[in-house]
Amino acid sequence: MPSHNQVRKRSQLAFRSFLAMLVLCGLYQFFHLSPCMMRSEERVSGYFSTPTDSTDEPLCPLYDKVEFKDPDSSVYILHDDEFKNKSVSRLSRAIQIPTWIDDEGSDFTKFTKFHEYLETEFQRVFDAANVFKVNTYGIVLEFKGSNSSLKPAMFTAHQDTVPPGDPQKWDKGPFSGYYDGTRVYGRGASDCKNLLIGLLESMDYLLVKGFKPERTIIFAFGFDEESSGKYGASHISKFLLEKYGPNSLYHIIDEGFGVFMELQNKNFAMLATGEKGYLDLGIEVLQPGGHSSIAPDHTAIGTISKLISRYEDRLYNPILVNVNPTLNTLQCIAEYADIEKSLKKDILRAHFDEKSNERVIQLLLDDTNTKYNVLTTHAADIINGGDKANALPQNVTALINHRIAHGNDFDTIMDRITGIATGVAKEHGMGLIVEEEILIEPTLAGSINIKAIYKLPVAPITPINDEIWASLAGHYRTFYEDITYPEKFEDDVLVVSAGIMTGNTDTRHYWDLTDHIFRGQPGFTPMTSGVHGINEYIDADSHLHIVAFYYNYILSIS
Ligand SMILES: *[C@@H]1O[C@H](CO)[C@@H](O)[C@H](O)[C@H]1NC(C)=O
Ligand SMILES: *[C@@H]1O[C@H](CO)[C@@H](O)[C@H](O)[C@H]1NC(C)=O
Ligand SMILES: *[C@@H]1O[C@H](CO)[C@@H](O)[C@H](O)[C@H]1NC(C)=O
Ligand SMILES: [Zn+2]
Repeated sequence: MPSHNQVRKRSQLAFRSFLAMLVLCGLYQFFHLSPCMMRSEERVSGYFSTPTDSTDEPLCPLYDKVEFKDPDSSVYILHDDEFKNKSVSRLSRAIQIPTWIDDEGSDFTKFTKFHEYLETEFQRVFDAANVFKVNTYGIVLEFKGSNSSLKPAMFTAHQDTVPPGDPQKWDKGPFSGYYDGTRVYGRGASDCKNLLIGLLESMDYLLVKGFKPERTIIFAFGFDEESSGKYGASHISKFLLEKYGPNSLYHIIDEGFGVFMELQNKNFAMLATGEKGYLDLGIEVLQPGGHSSIAPDHTAIGTISKLISRYEDRLYNPILVNVNPTLNTLQCIAEYADIEKSLKKDILRAHFDEKSNERVIQLLLDDTNTKYNVLTTHAADIINGGDKANALPQNVTALINHRIAHGNDFDTIMDRITGIATGVAKEHGMGLIVEEEILIEPTLAGSINIKAIYKLPVAPITPINDEIWASLAGHYRTFYEDITYPEKFEDDVLVVSAGIMTGNTDTRHYWDLTDHIFRGQPGFTPMTSGVHGINEYIDADSHLHIVAFYYNYILSIS
């Protein structure tokens, strides 16, 4: 028999791997692994079962299921062979048209062919919509509702993908759109031509069935999400703000991970309601030039190295504040999965009990996959300087990238880097300028100059105590419990939780349009979907979840 300690340890491990899975899902745009759907043989056994009885107010309530207006059509979409073949073919042909971009001035004219494909393949949808081409390649489709007092609901995806990498490494080539009977392969298969085509397909079928919305529905497709949305989403946002005004939308649902996760008979759906913040700091060390035979003790390269090295020596203090959506994810796990008792207690007390909060943070920190949910990160990603073996470098620059945790802000970072830079500047008798402000007058020995190059605060948190969230969660329950997996849910419920994205999506440009932004699409993201890597794919069934869910969800809210 294992000791109490062993049980506790094992329970924590199981819990951690579960958490790791949840977080990796959130990170899926940035890493190649995305184990959001565990295969049965990979399940961790013994720690997740039925909800435990608790007399307290639930921190993770179950939302009422919402009756679908046309459940038969969702069932048809999920199970009809002919529909599936057509759907797969539409996605496959979208993948066959390359739309990859990179950060270095991309050639956007390749999107013309993609537009032609969409307009031909989904002619019915384009005919029914008011079509706006924003900044040439951005697509906004407006399906005008009859009741203008209902706020329009927006759905988004992006047309671009990341580059294919080495085509030789792909089994079938990056633009094959190859279908092996289960999966569709190619760049963009799961990030996120599946969502873009899925949305169009659900609208196509709605129109076949005579769709006449009361609420206006908007589809918006940017074309440079993978390099910050500067030309696509940011222009679309301006366009929509002019057309509808600020805070004018019912909600925006963007790409994210596949919401459905299964683990040890417990099923969760998670939608991201928040994103971490972002800050690129530029550091410039200016020192007098000269011949290297009469070198100072520290060149500009040594100085900037010392600064970066000291900055890296300590992590930011981890922090788990109540608005961090990670807390809701944890609470849902604690309330519905059978985890070790003291851990469960800590999680359920973490929002008011400092000691519990600390222990939960420690648990998250112990796993490299979960620690970033409670940690502001710093990464020195670029350094430049020095020209010749015999010349002292006069201007050495570096860029330090940060992802800001909930509870921290720009000041957290500026205060800390300024403190360290002050120390280095004084030791070397140099000046210090931070954000154009002279803190120490530059000297003959030179100066350190720090400024923010690009910044984005932590995204506003989407509320989950209102009807919009309850409705979305309720639709997901109906969809998975009654329509998609009725056997699986015979005596089980789908727990819907909020979650976090540690990276940023196109929604960064849409904050002024609504307080209700969600990231995540129907379906599951399998263990090795190759997002941003080689052999990217989507399960055809998972793709159909998008079509089948949005068909009824859009019908219901409009
Ligand atoms: C769907 O496609 C498969 C091959 O991928 C084929 O075997 C099957 O007959 C097709 N079904 C229909 C109804 O067209
Ligand atoms: C339009 O929607 C509002 C808000 O739900 C509702 O009160 C009103 O009755 C609707 N108007 C029509 C004509 O349906
Ligand atoms: C230092 O180099 C950077 C990058 O090349 C440049 O942008 C900056 O203007 C230079 N600073 C000075 C003071 O020359
Ligand atoms: Zn994406």
